[in-house]
Amino acid sequence: MKKIMLVFGTRPEAIKVAPLVKEFQKYPEQFELVTCVTGQHREMLDQVLQLFDIKPDYDLNIMKQGQDLVEVSARILLGMRDVLVQAKPDIVLVHGDTTTSTITALSAFYQQIPVGHIEAGLRTHNIYSPWPEEMNRQLTGRMASYHFSPTLLSQQNLLREGIRNDNIIVTGNTGIDALYMIVDKIKNDSSLGAKLSKELRIAGYETDRLSPSSARRLVLITGHRRENFGEGFIRICKAINFLSERYAMVDFVYPMHLNPNVRAPIQTVFGRKRPSNLFFIEPLEYLSFVYLMEKSFMVLTDSGGIQEEAPSLGKPVLVMRDITERLESLKAGTVRLVGTDYEKITSEVSKLLDDSEHYQEMSKAISPYGDGKACERVVSQISNWIR
Ligand code: UD1
Ligand code: UDP
Repeated sequence: MKKIMLVFGTRPEAIKVAPLVKEFQKYPEQFELVTCVTGQHREMLDQVLQLFDIKPDYDLNIMKQGQDLVEVSARILLGMRDVLVQAKPDIVLVHGDTTTSTITALSAFYQQIPVGHIEAGLRTHNIYSPWPEEMNRQLTGRMASYHFSPTLLSQQNLLREGIRNDNIIVTGNTGIDALYMIVDKIKNDSSLGAKLSKELRIAGYETDRLSPSSARRLVLITGHRRENFGEGFIRICKAINFLSERYAMVDFVYPMHLNPNVRAPIQTVFGRKRPSNLFFIEPLEYLSFVYLMEKSFMVLTDSGGIQEEAPSLGKPVLVMRDITERLESLKAGTVRLVGTDYEKITSEVSKLLDDSEHYQEMSKAISPYGDGKACERVVSQISNWIR
């Protein structure tokens, strides 16, 4: 019996490891699974834990309002030391490129416990974009013994860095497992649509506005990247303001990240005066978010995970970043980079709204990030690697 410790701390990590928790739990005779959350996020993490019914064995509960990277890192490093000394796992699994994953990998390294890195090998090769995520994933890659790459491209990045092929497996992204799980849930439960519409109404958006007879369309927006804080977000807000005035028949819905640096520019640009077709709402529970993404016409975001999910649902994505580590959908033409440039955002959104041929080209459903079976591959490979 091998003791596997899965550590995560933010909303996207939780979404992407939730199906992995379920997969490990299918084999209780083979694995003792221990889950630990750092609590780098709180409300946004708890929403996911509740949805997937995950009750962590350890919770470092480190989140404090607006704390900087140093404090987040120091609190995780100290907290994980105690957890690892007590739990003594055979392997620690971390996910992606957050402070939680890198500092946990460092903690495990200090205890000489092997680390497995899920979603390994994504690269922009620019350490300031995204910041600090690009450095986080490079460092985690150096510390990890085993690498679960979502795509061939990410495997190649690792091979170029000298990592042995024997220690890498291409699995697909576990986030696509989570997405398919939720899409199926929505499809198979006829009462769920009404429930989610009600939740969205409470959150501040009325999905009835999108009834076919209304001909209204939905542009779904999210943003949270640190490198966009300040002027970048101000330009994004000004662009959204222009677009919402120009397209009265389009609803612009922006579930706001809880980071105060994301909310301040919205207040600065809009104050209390908001166009009636522009909705700033609280962060949505994953189920409601996927439901809304399915209803959307297109997505405008700087998120990593949404760049993977939206193309699988056939939704064009404009990415408010200058560079991306997710090149697969960029190459397939379903994603375009617009940075935080006012002109680019307004012209590319307008083009998608006005030019149906262009929209058709960008809205073909592709799934370069996975087939929904990534977790099966992770779990079966772990048994080969740690005997
Ligand atoms: C973090 C990750 C980023 C990931 C993102 C996903 C790092 C350095 N950044 O960025 O890679 O893409 O999560 O969303 O690891 N807050 C709350 N409640 C919450 C969550 C956040 O109030 O549930 C507020 C707090 O004031 C917190 C702040 O947001 O201090 C920033 O959170 P933090 O985890 O440091 O950074 P994110 O921008 O969320
Ligand atoms: N998401 C969510 N509710 C929201 C916004 C996003 O559940 O209000 C989900 C989204 O579907 C994706 C993940 O959160 O799975 C992305 O999180 P985020 O953009 O914060 O982080 P990133 O992927 O950039 O690390």
